[in-house]
Amino acid sequence: MNIDGVHYKTIWLNDNGWAVNIIDQTKLPFNFVIARLETVEEVAAAIKNMQVRGAPLIGAAAAYGMAIAMNSDGSDKNLHRAHDILFSSRPTAVNLRWALDQIKSVVNSLPPVERAAAAYKRADEICDEDIQICSSIGDNGEKLIKTIYQNNSTSNPVNILTHCNAGWLATVDWGTALAPVYKAHDSGLPVHIWVDETRPRNQGASLTAWELAKHNVPHTVITDNAGGHLMQKGKVDLCIVGTDRTTFTGDVCNKIGTYLKALAAHDNKVPFYVALPSPTIDWNIENGVEDIPIEERSDDEVSRVVGRSADGSLLSVRVINESSSAANPAFDVTPSRLITGLITERGICQASEESLKKLFPGKAGKAINSGSR
Ligand code: MRU
Repeated sequence: MNIDGVHYKTIWLNDNGWAVNIIDQTKLPFNFVIARLETVEEVAAAIKNMQVRGAPLIGAAAAYGMAIAMNSDGSDKNLHRAHDILFSSRPTAVNLRWALDQIKSVVNSLPPVERAAAAYKRADEICDEDIQICSSIGDNGEKLIKTIYQNNSTSNPVNILTHCNAGWLATVDWGTALAPVYKAHDSGLPVHIWVDETRPRNQGASLTAWELAKHNVPHTVITDNAGGHLMQKGKVDLCIVGTDRTTFTGDVCNKIGTYLKALAAHDNKVPFYVALPSPTIDWNIENGVEDIPIEERSDDEVSRVVGRSADGSLLSVRVINESSSAANPAFDVTPSRLITGLITERGICQASEESLKKLFPGKAGKAINSGSR
């Protein structure tokens, strides 16, 4: 995507050919900072502290983390060590495990000296594939937006509500939930986006609003509690959100608060779609509420808010009473029954085992217990 006329991806190989550069998302929207990651520990820390975030980008970063580790030492011991360090960085996005497995399966049978080149090659491919997948999700979702626009009795913009950030910052490029928005906007379809601020980390307010502003897409930031009211008033035509892990039965795990939006959408008959790249499907988990691991993050993210003060400096301020405790579950699960459809790279399907298997034939879809999460 373009930032002030320059095309950026969210992750790319450094000029030295072995480290990776990332856009440090903890600094946005106020500062645009590129960070260089040179060790597997630095990549794992960048994922953990959310300098890189969003399920597809977590996968891409982890793939490069494995390549960086193989570049320093291609032994079996280091392969397993790198895998374990990266795997423990964040628990919910299944793209992490998927990407680590991809790299492992490519390098496993190679002698140590050949592993780094093969790992970088596969990591590059994972990034290219992600761009293709997201672009196709964009094409498929754009058709949906066009249909809603054509069925509207007015020529008003299509009002789309989104939660968290599932834009290009969460992927290598394009985004998932926002790819249809960018494609629709670029082809002249009028759209307006309701951006949930997405407490506690405010990915909507800090990242989605920034992305949309850079692309001149009309949008309005709302509090997380406003969506239901806007739906009741007929001000939302469509919800599109991303996902960190979707079971083969169509249960969707996404940023905390997604479930409440789906309930409100269901009650108000607003179509609720999830943009789903295929590496985000967990073919091993049947029941999302029971079996998807939900990340618990620091209570500091709830008790404190970060913002820019009048003099331009960044401030972190406490917003709850000193002696009160806080809890911070970072994701929730929306059961398939509340989901109108899944927008995948292969087309739009129902949130059901039957529909997903029709689009992705040959996938196992067999529940196993939680040991291999
Ligand atoms: O905690 P985050 O910011 O990594 O959570 C991101 C989300 O919940 C996104 O909606 C999801 O990863 C899909 S990104 C295309």
